[in-house]
Amino acid sequence: MSEQKIWKRTGMCLDYSEADLGKKITLTGWVDNCRNLGGLIFLWLRDRSGIMQIVFDEGLDQKDFAEAESLRNEFVISVQGEIIARQPQNINADLPTGRIEVRAEKLQVISKAITPPFEIEDASNVREELRLKYRYLDLRRPILQKNLILRSKIASSMRRYLDENGFIEIETPILQKSTPEGAREYLVPSRRKPGSFYSLAQSPQIFKQLLMVAGMDRYYQVAKCFRDEDLRADRQPEFTQLDMELSFVDENDIMAINEGLLARVMKEVFGYELSLPLLKMPYKEAMERFGSDKPDTRFGLELHDLSETVKSCGFRVFEETVAKGGSVRAINAKQAHFSRKEIDSFGQFVKTYGAKGLSWINYKENEISSPIAKFLSEGEMQKILQEMKAQPGDVLFFIADKNKVVFDSLGALRLELAKKLGLIDEQKLNFLWITEFPMFELDEESGRYVAVHHPFTCPMDEDTQYLESNPEKVRAKAYDIVLNGVELGGGSVRIHDSELQQRVFRAIGFSTEAAWKKFGFLLSAFKYGTPPHGGLAFGFDRMVMLLTGSKSIRDVIAFPKAQNASCLMTEAPAEVEASQLADLHIQIVKDDVEN
Ligand code: AMO
Ligand code: AMP
Repeated sequence: MSEQKIWKRTGMCLDYSEADLGKKITLTGWVDNCRNLGGLIFLWLRDRSGIMQIVFDEGLDQKDFAEAESLRNEFVISVQGEIIARQPQNINADLPTGRIEVRAEKLQVISKAITPPFEIEDASNVREELRLKYRYLDLRRPILQKNLILRSKIASSMRRYLDENGFIEIETPILQKSTPEGAREYLVPSRRKPGSFYSLAQSPQIFKQLLMVAGMDRYYQVAKCFRDEDLRADRQPEFTQLDMELSFVDENDIMAINEGLLARVMKEVFGYELSLPLLKMPYKEAMERFGSDKPDTRFGLELHDLSETVKSCGFRVFEETVAKGGSVRAINAKQAHFSRKEIDSFGQFVKTYGAKGLSWINYKENEISSPIAKFLSEGEMQKILQEMKAQPGDVLFFIADKNKVVFDSLGALRLELAKKLGLIDEQKLNFLWITEFPMFELDEESGRYVAVHHPFTCPMDEDTQYLESNPEKVRAKAYDIVLNGVELGGGSVRIHDSELQQRVFRAIGFSTEAAWKKFGFLLSAFKYGTPPHGGLAFGFDRMVMLLTGSKSIRDVIAFPKAQNASCLMTEAPAEVEASQLADLHIQIVKDDVEN
């Protein structure tokens, strides 16, 4: 074929409709499938836009017909022909082009294909490992093409909005200096400075703050970020943020700008009217009602604090937990009618979140069954049922522990129950701001306070008085945006006062010297006139995942990593030549290499 000039297409499959009947066109694309009825071949041609049916009949030149008979799936071809109406009995309502077809007049085979390792179709249940190994074939599936097209549309809608609102797009370095906060970093050895390392950017955080010091006023970037974390369905080692920073703003300004951005994307890309302002909920309320700082508010099953009611109820576990400062909280699974076996499986489930046990009351029509009934008086049982608004058919679940464990395990149980009971309305899009995050949390291992967000986050004005005396009481000017139980993004107002910054560093056990050693360039920059500033970063992959209804962020990233952070297609990470290691002054200690 190489000497033959490849025909130029006149359009893509979905550019044509019944309005074009009689037109002579040229299409190019892949053979999606081919049915040979003997003397008549129906072929589906696939390009990025969709499918067009091509008919080869005996009116065709013999050589071309023979060639059409030799076509196999995934061959790349070009077809010239005329758009004709399909016979009424052949109309396919599932295809946008289902009322027409192209009667082939000439065929050109551009490129042959060997048999692919799996069929290119959406309804395939091919193992994901195989799909990732042949990702370029997987990406031919219409669903993935649609996801990537929507991803691009969302990004360009955001860019337009930010551009109209005075933001400028600026790139920041990926090779950075390692900082001790946040996730584990990827390190890159320096060739020029033996024994020294860059780290790959976890986020553009410090640089975007420096851009505010530099007077850029409003910055944004579609930024690649790298974090060496354990992967889950919504986590990748390299992912994309829509990152921004603004000067002379407070937290409400930043949230309002971002609500506008979300409304714009929803309208422009999905034709969906987002009603503004979005709901705001303080962190404390989110934890107490949902056991989570990223609550899925599409269903009820809220947590209820029973500590007061059960603090002297006769069940030792409950009494002691409350006496030690923990809590006893419960969920009412309304009309769950669970079997004993199901109830026991929830007991196992919560253990993976650190709960020591799960108590329950199964309120049936004529009896109450519960492992804790024997510890409670009739009056106490009635009081609990009343407080939980229990009715026959309901099952109540209780966890007693430190607050953190109660929230983690009951919060997770709440989601599990909702799935089991089919309470989640998949049509809903519940956006929600979580505000007033705690500034610090106690790291159990080191016994030290660590910054919940990052140490440049500004404490709430009314709480700075507690920085030294009671750090746990200090709330931050930080906010997360949550959609259907997934943390979509987060940000904060930053500290622009170097005195306050030092007090915060001290609260997390960072001496002034240590802080200067790590962030000297930033602290020094702040001394040259710093505007008040703050920002936010969306997890862009997560956003696209939720808005396209995908189950995993791998389905909205062209070339994602597998669960073990490897690329199954290129086989990265891989060993390198000894000479490359020598250049980098690196020696591999074989004993330390796992298997
Ligand atoms: P944060 O660390 O909360 O904030 O990250 C912002 C958002 O990025 C997404 N995200 C991820 N997505 C996929 N894979 C990952 N491994 C991953 N890690 C995080 C989440 C998260 O909400 N510099 C600050 C932002 C700021 O303060 O302005 C930052 O990076 O959706
Ligand atoms: P036991 O006295 O060990 O038979 O426990 C009675 C019930 O209390 C069992 O159903 C346990 O699962 C439950 N239980 C034990 N520890 C806790 C806890 N921390 N919170 C809630 N229930 C618990």
